[in-house]
Amino acid sequence: MKKPESSVTGTLSRAHAALLENLHKVKDCVSANAAAGPAELRAFLSTTRAEMVEHFRAQERHSSMDAIQSQQPYLSPAIHRLADEHRALTESLDVLMDEAARATAVDDGLRHRVRDWIGRVRQHEAHEIDFLQNAVDQDIGEKD
Ligand SMILES: [Fe+2]
Repeated sequence: MKKPESSVTGTLSRAHAALLENLHKVKDCVSANAAAGPAELRAFLSTTRAEMVEHFRAQERHSSMDAIQSQQPYLSPAIHRLADEHRALTESLDVLMDEAARATAVDDGLRHRVRDWIGRVRQHEAHEIDFLQNAVDQDIGEKD
């Protein structure tokens, strides 16, 4: 039987760091004193979307997820919820990109909605990393 990795700090962690860095740039773009216009904001969001979708795909296909599903099937609902959150976060970003595409200026409302979305992505990612690490640790503990 395939054993899950003992740490989730490999490829996923690097991709996670890249995503967080991108989110930081977007956050700068919507800070109170930022001069970015809607086209620039949309470009940042578009870059972030590409990285994020790739990262989500890597998380969903990661060997740890397969191992958890087969060895700890009771965690399957939680894994499905994480995938649902990926879809919801991507759809929310699409709405923000549409809004930026239609906007003539980046107003406070749009800034707030982008910052709120960034917060939700960060919260999701932190929860997902904890979940993965706990599941892998628990699996290793059960085998000791
Ligand atoms: Fe995720």
